[in-house]
Amino acid sequence: MKTIQIKIDEKQIEEQLLKQAGQLIKNGGLVAFPTETVYGLGADALNSEAAVKIYAAKGRPSDNPLIVHIADYEALFHIALEVSEKAKALADQYWPGPLTMIFQKKESVPFRTTGGLQTVAVRMPGHKIALELIRKSGGYIAAPSANISGRPSPTQAQHVAEDMNGKIDMIIDGGEVGIGIESTIIDMSGAIPVILRPGFIDRSMIEAVIGPVVLDPTILRQNTEQLRPKAPGMMYKHYAPKAELSIVEGSMESVVKTINDLCKEKCKKGYMVGIIATEETKQLYHAGIVKVIGSRNEEASIVRGLYRVLREFDHTGVEFIYSESFADGEMGLAIMSRMLKAAGHKVISL
Ligand code: TXA
Ligand code: MG
Repeated sequence: MKTIQIKIDEKQIEEQLLKQAGQLIKNGGLVAFPTETVYGLGADALNSEAAVKIYAAKGRPSDNPLIVHIADYEALFHIALEVSEKAKALADQYWPGPLTMIFQKKESVPFRTTGGLQTVAVRMPGHKIALELIRKSGGYIAAPSANISGRPSPTQAQHVAEDMNGKIDMIIDGGEVGIGIESTIIDMSGAIPVILRPGFIDRSMIEAVIGPVVLDPTILRQNTEQLRPKAPGMMYKHYAPKAELSIVEGSMESVVKTINDLCKEKCKKGYMVGIIATEETKQLYHAGIVKVIGSRNEEASIVRGLYRVLREFDHTGVEFIYSESFADGEMGLAIMSRMLKAAGHKVISL
């Protein structure tokens, strides 16, 4: 299959191009598009066969449900059975934006889209191209992140092309995304709201609107038979770079020293080693390939750089990567939930 690539400027959207993309989705095709979190791989959410194509293109297990993206609030009531007052309040506050809510589903949503579940995940993205594309595609786009299953999510169109070229109908290049990690997921289908995946909309932002919520206990822990995450996608090995990643945590001074020592040791044995550093520490490392994830003075830059550095290392041939820890800031939970998965929970605590 030939994958068409088009460029659209969010500030100056060419209606005609988006109309063409919308038509592809209406016809059952696959179109990758930018959102404010990561790039999504879109198909008509109400068309079973289209959903099946998403699983094939990503190599994703078919029991891992997809998020349905909407552009207009009323669309929610066509796919969700019950929408509580709390859910309405969250939608009011944070939609369009990086928040996904889970509801009991209506019959209109095929089981192929929900991975066989009775619930459906819904999000209204805060990105102009995404919103217009959804409207031009019939109003309901099922979209996982546009990466091959298990690889870091794409934050640039180039990342999507690496994984999806030749497998999908179109890639819309809308530039680098603004946030860089996937939406917060909150399950609103039970009595107590549960955060299943942390993201830019953090716990305190949610509790400010609806009061106490709980965190899925598996978010920062390794999965076991007893401890299974409620979002099936959080179970799989994820975001993994090709190299073996370890996170080193402790005081900045001891972290830098330990990473330098580990690098020296591995380099002596002939291995290629990578280091995930920050603007503030990059000049302190003396061996290996040093990549800057972002600046500790601007946490958002670290969030935005996370998947980019993991992908960049895949092109360097490094066999081991050592990273500083980023657990301290407001987005610490969101960042570390991804990094710990990418590292297979290999942490060196000093
Ligand atoms: O920011 C995002 O959410 C991006 C962009 C493209 O919108 N999408 C995204 O989709 O991250 P995906 O498929 O990569 O991750 C969706 C996660 C998976 O972990 C999946 O298991 C979970 O949401 N999920 C979807 N429907 C669910 C449901 N009904 N119950 C529990 N978890 C669900
Ligand atoms: Mg994903």
